[in-house]
Amino acid sequence: MSSVLMDLDEFDLNSKEPITEPERQYYFMAKCREWVRNKEKEINRPLTFSVVTFGCQMNAKDSEKLAGILEQIGYHQIEGEEADFVVYNTCTVRENANTRVYGRLGYLNSLKRKNPNMMIALCGCMMQEDAVVDKIKKSYRFVDMIFGTHNIFKMAELMHTRIHSKTMIIDIWKDTNLIVEDLPSERKYKFKAGVNIMYGCNNFCSYCIVPYVRGRERSRNPEDIVKEVKELVADGVIEIMLLGQNVNSYGKSLEEKTTFAGLLKLLEEIEGLERIRFMTSHPKDLSDDLIEVMKNSKKICKHLHLPVQAGSTNVLKKMNRSYTKEDYLSLVDRIKTAMPDISLTTDIIIGFPGETEEDFLETLEVVEKVRYDSAYTFLYSKRSGTPASVMENQVEELVAKDRFDRLLKVVQKISSEMTARVAGNVEEVLVEEINGQDPSLMTGRLSNNILVHFKGSEEQIGKIVKVKLAECKGFYYMGELCN
Ligand code: SAH
Ligand code: SF4
Ligand code: F3S
Repeated sequence: MSSVLMDLDEFDLNSKEPITEPERQYYFMAKCREWVRNKEKEINRPLTFSVVTFGCQMNAKDSEKLAGILEQIGYHQIEGEEADFVVYNTCTVRENANTRVYGRLGYLNSLKRKNPNMMIALCGCMMQEDAVVDKIKKSYRFVDMIFGTHNIFKMAELMHTRIHSKTMIIDIWKDTNLIVEDLPSERKYKFKAGVNIMYGCNNFCSYCIVPYVRGRERSRNPEDIVKEVKELVADGVIEIMLLGQNVNSYGKSLEEKTTFAGLLKLLEEIEGLERIRFMTSHPKDLSDDLIEVMKNSKKICKHLHLPVQAGSTNVLKKMNRSYTKEDYLSLVDRIKTAMPDISLTTDIIIGFPGETEEDFLETLEVVEKVRYDSAYTFLYSKRSGTPASVMENQVEELVAKDRFDRLLKVVQKISSEMTARVAGNVEEVLVEEINGQDPSLMTGRLSNNILVHFKGSEEQIGKIVKVKLAECKGFYYMGELCN
């Protein structure tokens, strides 16, 4: 599904490039399209592209923008990396994310040796790190373009520069206050879409690299968000996922102060929109207003991703999370009192510097008290440049792994018990796709994000249907369609 705001045929390619955005980028898309058309004639086949996404939903959303630009330029999207233009949209939140990218670059090089028309672009969070760019400049000379998180909107312009130069193009911005609206985007699903409401992060949790690679927090104007959501709904979308590193601080950077709760109220009014999701919620900024709005809403899904990171106040303090264990538990209490059927999920880091066995037991205690529907558990990964990377008492790997395994057991046991609590209910399900393993089954999602598989038909994709949750299988359900 694509959205495009300008007609490339309207550009006079012999004129000088426009200065304002997004016109300037549409001009370069038209220029590159001309090049692609000529190339296709020369080699007598269509040119293809592939965008490979590492990391979080923000990156997934950025990848849709990159795909939108490449489609405009005239490339055809394919799966896998045997394409004429390959973009790796990278993540650096943990060291293993970087390792994966380096591992796959060797493979890309082997593909490029076979295809002289191939271009390779690297972008995203990892590219915001000087050491990474230095390494690629030195050891991965076959890469054509490197850009960062702040200028993905410029890809067509950078490609145009690359076509007319023989060297690797590198364009990394340290930070920006620019938000370029109205660029093309290529959605993966017809019926659901991610919508950025803010960029960057100002929280500087001491372990986290995101504020350094995504820059300062910037909120989009509510009018722009409402306009985008209305356009998406007109294009068939019924579920949106609002995206931000800390959606609860939405609006703080705007001149006219608005709040996340206020934004949700505006979106609730949009006719045709059926479900609203959002992530991520930082516990320190979750307001009673938001709880009230969620409670009274017919559209906001009863699911909160509320990363706790650790259970011990001592560790939370060193993490710079700005809440105590008691603050977090009392917040959970308020949420559950207002919405007893809410689904809570979380992120937990194990092995943060200085974490003792007692600290770890407090994390287990919080997990047992809150009873999460699911939890993403991570082993602490040292990110250079962050305050935690130079803290004393880094936890030994074996100790951290042992705690990790113990935590996982508890998380999984509670998670399957929580999933089972809706067994037998008839629930509304948004049908998403044909089941990958059994094509006679359809796969859909409950409001609380649990998956259910049931006998259905392809025409139901993108619709909300009623399904009886017949059998709980641990983390998902086998269901029966109700007529
Ligand atoms: N903005 C979100 C999180 C974004 S990063 C929030 O504050 O909740 C996603 C998750 O990765 C974090 O919640 C954290 O649990 C984990 N993470 C971040 N940095 C990490 C590190 N250095 N080591 C291990 N896990 C980390
Ligand atoms: Fe990282 Fe903390 Fe910002 Fe989340 S809120 S992105 S964990 S610094
Ligand atoms: Fe990774 Fe960047 Fe997201 S570091 S988790 S892709 S914001």
